[in-house]
Amino acid sequence: MVSFKVSLVSTSPIDGQKPGTSGLRKKVKVFKQPNYLENFVQATFNALTTEKVKGATLVVSGDGRYYSEQAIQIIVKMAAANGVRRVWVGQNSLLSTPAVSAIIRERVGADGSKATGAFILTASHNPGGPTEDFGIKYNMETGGPAPESITDKIYENTKTIKEYPIAEDLPRVDISTIGITSFEGPEGKFDVEVFDSADDYVKLMKSIFDFESIKKLLSYPKFTFCYDALHGVAGAYAHRIFVEELGAPESSLLNCVPKEDFGGGHPDPNLTYAKELVARMGLSKTDDAGGEPPEFGAAADGDADRNMILGKRFFVTPSDSVAIIAANAVGAIPYFSSGLKGVARSMPTSAALDVVAKNLGLKFFEVPTGWKFFGNLMDAGMCSVCGEESFGTGSDHIREKDGIWAVLAWLSILAHKNKETLDGNAKLVTVEDIVRQHWATYGRHYYTRYDYENVDATAAKELMGLLVKLQSSLPEVNKIIKGIHPEVANVASADEFEYKDPVDGSVSKHQGIRYLFEDGSRLVFRLSGTGSEGATIRLYIEQYEKDASKIGRDSQDALGPLVDVALKLSKMQEFTGRSSPTVIT
Ligand code: G6P
Ligand code: ZN
Repeated sequence: MVSFKVSLVSTSPIDGQKPGTSGLRKKVKVFKQPNYLENFVQATFNALTTEKVKGATLVVSGDGRYYSEQAIQIIVKMAAANGVRRVWVGQNSLLSTPAVSAIIRERVGADGSKATGAFILTASHNPGGPTEDFGIKYNMETGGPAPESITDKIYENTKTIKEYPIAEDLPRVDISTIGITSFEGPEGKFDVEVFDSADDYVKLMKSIFDFESIKKLLSYPKFTFCYDALHGVAGAYAHRIFVEELGAPESSLLNCVPKEDFGGGHPDPNLTYAKELVARMGLSKTDDAGGEPPEFGAAADGDADRNMILGKRFFVTPSDSVAIIAANAVGAIPYFSSGLKGVARSMPTSAALDVVAKNLGLKFFEVPTGWKFFGNLMDAGMCSVCGEESFGTGSDHIREKDGIWAVLAWLSILAHKNKETLDGNAKLVTVEDIVRQHWATYGRHYYTRYDYENVDATAAKELMGLLVKLQSSLPEVNKIIKGIHPEVANVASADEFEYKDPVDGSVSKHQGIRYLFEDGSRLVFRLSGTGSEGATIRLYIEQYEKDASKIGRDSQDALGPLVDVALKLSKMQEFTGRSSPTVIT
């Protein structure tokens, strides 16, 4: 067995290592600075209790983006030097964020070991490559992201760090080959285990869904399917699950080979960035897909926790998606057969889920943006299904949102609704049919989001400042609105969203600026917590329509007047210099 020594390296604090909504995300060149990654990793070790480090088992992997392999070798050397007992690595450094969560919760090593945490190497939906983003975040023993108490401690530690231990002479570990490599250090044995990236996750999915019924749906000739991994880590799971387990043809997979630069693309599953899929589904305004689009399409982001669901020439908003999953979960998904414990959405997500919760008598929670807020509710047994407008949907099977789970949930609902069709007796119930049926039952929440990416940070703050100021003079606001669009309802109340966690009592303030209208419409303004450059302003626009004769409009048309009001009220163009948003979803 190869033995290693531990040396102490002197370092000094580096500015700007404050973890955002989902860890530390910076350009690769920032991460490559001497001691940059090392400082953050040591600050994390120092923020954890001793038993989570000494003798512990840690997962280290991610979406396989550029710099992952080098980062893993550094973290392995530092873990060894800090007295960690084992590091578990997904083959070729690949593990999706949901798979990491599942592995922490479910995987048992050959010797009975369990992981107590993970370093996830990803910048999620941000582009990758030498000139793009890298990222790192720490997840806890529940499988969920570190809470603010830990990330605050990590940040404090980065401001005072003086040294870190490292096993410089530990040989480079081959992370492309499955197996265990053992080393001997000053504190005893240290193992690095490389394992199959998909095995544990596939097993978990098979325990949640009825794979046989989905298989039957996928083999039905009129049901055509397409999945786009945008060259992210989802590709490693898509092949195993959709092709090998469920029998979909290879040709139904698009961009499913994980690449360290995501093929030069922006791995974010929305109507702007998932261009190829959008064209194939017949939704592109400029490209012609050529031929009949598939019945069902879906895409994932870089680390496979996000999802976009599409029908033939039809976009399902993430806000509708979670509501529809919640409304149909019990009959369609075996995991939920005994009922839902509750449902939850983030504040800017539309109120479609609220209506389902009310009709079905389910516990309901509205939390700030960020998946960690759902985790507390789930740990306390208060929530089964949750979702966010930002293309995140998931359940309490793990503590992260789960892109492939969402696709399997939709396929389960389609299989359920098409039972008779699959037996040869009826017409195919499509994605669009399911959504329209849902609107007819619960009403429709017209919804759109405008993103202004990479705007000047000071200008963004000033815009938010103006909107807060306006909140104290609603009569004046209503006068402005009437001057622009007399048909738009009055603002009934306005505030900055604040959340008191019902489980631990913690309070999160300044979670977005809300304008709530008398007819149930909403305008929400937030600054993104996930960008890596400048500021991103997000504007969320929503309008509820109960009248069945008015639920079929184009959403941009229906929301036109409200959008106009939002842009003028916020002086968007004046502050940002932008006449249109970067992305509209
Ligand atoms: C990440 C988090 C989500 C959150 C999203 C918000 O994806 O995991 O929970 O909704 O970021 O991003 P934003 O850029 O709007 O802060
Ligand atoms: Zn992601």
